[in-house]
Amino acid sequence: MLSNQAGDGKRSSLHGHWSSRMAFILAVTGSAVGLGNIWKFPYIAGQNGGGAFVLVYLACVIFIGMPVMMSEILIGRRGRRNPIATMTLLGKEEGSSGNWGWVGSMGVVAGILILSYYSVIAGWTLAYIVKSATGAFVGGTPAEVGAQFGGFVGDWRQVGLTHTIFMALTVFVVARGVERGLEQAVRFMVPALLVLMLVLLVYSINSGYFGQGVAFMFTPDFDKLTWNSVLAALGQAFFTLSIGMGAIMAYGAYLPEETSITGASAAVVSADTAIAILAGLAIFPLVFANGLEPGDGPGLVFNTLPLAFGQMSGGIFFSTIFFVLLSFAAWTSAIGLMEPAVAWLVEKHNRSRAQAAVIVGLLIWAIGFGSVLSFNVLADVKFLAGTIFDNVDYLTSNIMLPLGGLLIAVFAGWVMCRNSTSDELGTAGNVFKTWRLLARFVAPLGILFVLLNAVGLLDWIRSLAS
Ligand code: PHE
Repeated sequence: MLSNQAGDGKRSSLHGHWSSRMAFILAVTGSAVGLGNIWKFPYIAGQNGGGAFVLVYLACVIFIGMPVMMSEILIGRRGRRNPIATMTLLGKEEGSSGNWGWVGSMGVVAGILILSYYSVIAGWTLAYIVKSATGAFVGGTPAEVGAQFGGFVGDWRQVGLTHTIFMALTVFVVARGVERGLEQAVRFMVPALLVLMLVLLVYSINSGYFGQGVAFMFTPDFDKLTWNSVLAALGQAFFTLSIGMGAIMAYGAYLPEETSITGASAAVVSADTAIAILAGLAIFPLVFANGLEPGDGPGLVFNTLPLAFGQMSGGIFFSTIFFVLLSFAAWTSAIGLMEPAVAWLVEKHNRSRAQAAVIVGLLIWAIGFGSVLSFNVLADVKFLAGTIFDNVDYLTSNIMLPLGGLLIAVFAGWVMCRNSTSDELGTAGNVFKTWRLLARFVAPLGILFVLLNAVGLLDWIRSLAS
């Protein structure tokens, strides 16, 4: 194979390699599939009016997400270090500059910020395991289920406690470096999650409001689409695929030479998108059947799915399993969010993995209290994008990840020479040409255009011109 022969003296990673191609795909899928698909996608789609947003999101996934993911993996595999060191090294090696390392640094910061609130929401899912198992939702009305949610997030001590538990679980896994065990977990979790989503889908189809849900998700009304919604769709594409911040780059560093980057990316992107769409199809009919608001915000999943479970026979069982799986999915994603920071501390500052995990974990845990309090004590403290949680989310998903993705695409498309990238992708044929076209032009220009429009810069220029 091409990728084996070319480029002598290939590097190898300090942290070892994935045991197989499947192991890598499972790890990346584990990172991609998470709260982003089931918690975030439906509520963001709801807030942005459905149809048109979903279409833009799908376009972003295919034309921007896919090439950026491939770029990240190939950069990671070529450098075989943490994202900062890899970008610094390759920047110099490709005759540009070591300053590219700053892209890696931004990713480390983004990962820390994202996990700070991700862990809070993951804590909600932990709490919902207990609520489900104790039958809190059985026969619940929309008002009762809503009150359960409000009562829980309104109490900062409960939210803080579950956030703490989730962070502890994450640090535990990262410290021990037991990704092997997680491979096994993902192998079982993703299919199981798919099956449960199908169970929910059947329920939704029977709710009598399925058509309305489908129409909401797929009938585009482009008049309703603002540039901010387009940016939200772009940000969601990055968030859900775990790209733009080095998580996938860090995983790519452990990828064996012979694995096909294109094949692996396609598998992950398809699985991730399928789960998000399924979640939407299960949730929106319930929203309409129960007279709820699609634009209700972060509580959407927690206010809808328990209603369905509460009425199903075997609902306690299904509901408990569902929130267990969702917590697992969040757990495997959280590990990816921490990996760049931890790998960096280990390599650069000679910390043991355990020490690094604890240091990073404590930092993230503390920052997380900004989001814990955003739903109760500080719920009325609003600035820029809203609460502290809203701001951290907006800054990371809508600005840092797209910006990181833009720079990563430019790096792979323009800074790295043609031979280095075709060597990593293992081909110089049509797949390579398509990737290169997307990475050089479509992704960077697309991201730039959306970012500039969302901040109103293009409008402003237009107004100057007229
Ligand atoms: N993709 C994950 C999800 O959908 C979140 C994530 C973002 C994980 C960035 C790692 C890096 O839940």
